[in-house]
Amino acid sequence: MLANDPAKKLSFKRCISNGDLVIVYERHDNMRAVTVSENSVLQNRFGVFKHSDWIGKQFGSKVFSNKGGFVYLLAPTPELWTLVLSHRTQILYIADISFVITYLEIVPGSVVLESGTGSGSLTTSLTRAVAPTGHVYTFDFHEQRAGSAREDFEKTGLSGLVTVTVRDIQDEGFPDEFAGLADAVFLDLPQPWLAIPSAAKMLKQDGTLCSFSPCVEQVQRSCETLRTSFTDIRTFEILLRTYEVREEKVDKFQRESDGSNGSLPCKRRQCSDGSNVPISPIPSVMARPCSEAKGHTGYLTFARLKCLS
Ligand SMILES: C[S@@+](CC[C@H](N)C(=O)[O-])C[C@H]1O[C@@H](n2cnc3c(N)ncnc32)[C@H](O)[C@@H]1O
Repeated sequence: MLANDPAKKLSFKRCISNGDLVIVYERHDNMRAVTVSENSVLQNRFGVFKHSDWIGKQFGSKVFSNKGGFVYLLAPTPELWTLVLSHRTQILYIADISFVITYLEIVPGSVVLESGTGSGSLTTSLTRAVAPTGHVYTFDFHEQRAGSAREDFEKTGLSGLVTVTVRDIQDEGFPDEFAGLADAVFLDLPQPWLAIPSAAKMLKQDGTLCSFSPCVEQVQRSCETLRTSFTDIRTFEILLRTYEVREEKVDKFQRESDGSNGSLPCKRRQCSDGSNVPISPIPSVMARPCSEAKGHTGYLTFARLKCLS
């Protein structure tokens, strides 16, 4: 991910070393995170891969097994990490995450407060966005989840940019030491309205808040509370349509007659006398909407702190 060097310089390390985390990529729907260990092997349906063969290769390399099968070794970016991390809770996915980062105006150097941490999916992207000089302070009242998130941030090399604390934010609010210091606050809590007054205290003048809730009743209640100290309150639902692009064999006649870029492959053509003529299919790149696209995840409510002076 990001090498977190003490000089706080962004550095994207491109060569794989012993101990690095890599994403072993078979297909877009089949990948996993592996820590490279000189004497270990990875075994899958394509054969046995020696980790020692990976060391010194660049991220993005294609590597081969003893049987000539292959996988790609990709860098553990937040986008890929979200797809492979262990789900200890519901998580935010990339469509919501990217909107949150843009709309909260999170940039390098920002200070962000978040609760709850959950599986750290959003936290990972927030942390990359604030690097190299900002910081994410994330809070969860579940001790074990907080501990697992800390371990994950160590693994992904982000631990110098994120602090995980165990705290009940709905009950106690954010710690007073952050009052007036946060550029942005993000809430993914069952009763966010309980944490909103504290979030308002934490924000710098003009700071932004976002609350993620799966149900519209939670949104309504949050908006009522937001009105006291916030302006520009807006709620969004982000729906993403994903396409699968792959090569398929398509019959030539069909392509010419319907001008399509992706209709079903067909093996025979019907002649005027009713007989079927076999047609040799030709390879063609097809793009189709994925059948299992994600629907509703939740509502994102954004607001900006009112200037009270
Ligand atoms: C849905 S998960 C957050 C998922 C996270 N946004 C992600 O992308 O991985 C909600 C988290 O809020 C935590 N939580 C619930 N109530 C809380 C409270 N009062 N204070 C702090 N954390 C709380 C839960 O323990 C849980 O881990």
